[in-house]
Amino acid sequence: MKIAVLGAGNVGTVLGYGLLDAGHGVVFGVRDPQGREGFTAPVAEIAEAVSGAEVVVNTLPGAQTLGVLGQVGPAAFGGKVLIDVANAVTPAFELLYPNDSLGARLQAMLPDVKVVKTLNTIPAEIMTNPGTLPERSSVFLSGNDRGAKQTTGHLLGDLGWRHEDQVDLGGIETARATEHYLYLSVAIGQSTRSAQYNVSVIR
Ligand SMILES: NC(=O)c1ccc[n+]([C@@H]2O[C@H](COP(=O)([O-])OP(=O)(O)OC[C@H]3O[C@@H](n4cnc5c(N)ncnc54)[C@H](OP(=O)(O)O)[C@@H]3O)[C@@H](O)[C@H]2O)c1
Repeated sequence: MKIAVLGAGNVGTVLGYGLLDAGHGVVFGVRDPQGREGFTAPVAEIAEAVSGAEVVVNTLPGAQTLGVLGQVGPAAFGGKVLIDVANAVTPAFELLYPNDSLGARLQAMLPDVKVVKTLNTIPAEIMTNPGTLPERSSVFLSGNDRGAKQTTGHLLGDLGWRHEDQVDLGGIETARATEHYLYLSVAIGQSTRSAQYNVSVIR
């Protein structure tokens, strides 16, 4: 698939190159494409990257996401799948959208876009390497469109996430749950002094 990865920081590069390695066409969408000579994948301005993609993956800081994607505007997005990996916090590390979610706000701002929230509970090192953990673990999906969640599930599969480890939580309103998990995730990382951990839903 033709995939635009917005942001080329920790998560953006991990996911971008993971999807590239899986055989997808990846373009990084960044605010300043100059000076990215070290990148082995194309780099474009964000709006250009979105326009040429079938699927868009948002790895921008959560606090910047609505502003940046709002500027890109609904016309460039059309009815594309938008996979949102961001967590939105204030500079003081408080939830930016308490009792709500960035995922739901993105969906409200871009109603024709098919927003799927996923991977935001997963440490970057594990996103494309879930098999490095000694046991299977879970990744969550939230979104209103069944087809978009299937597309996202296939891409997660390409990154190593088994279908049975993908937990569909329901509509985009359930992104509130995974976005509020952030504090538990940080606490686990601090207490275990590790960036290689995840949780597993056992049924
Ligand atoms: N790190 C994790 O383990 C993890 C796990 C789950 C979810 N997340 C979420 O994933 C997202 C990215 O995290 P990260 O660790 O990759 O952060 P990061 O390394 O700081 O990367 C952020 C990227 O966003 C770009 N950016 C920042 N402000 C921007 C703006 N106003 N306009 C356009 N681009 C802008 C930066 O561009 P420049 O290169 O130009 O500065 C950078 O490429 C965050 O929302 C985070 O909550 C992270």
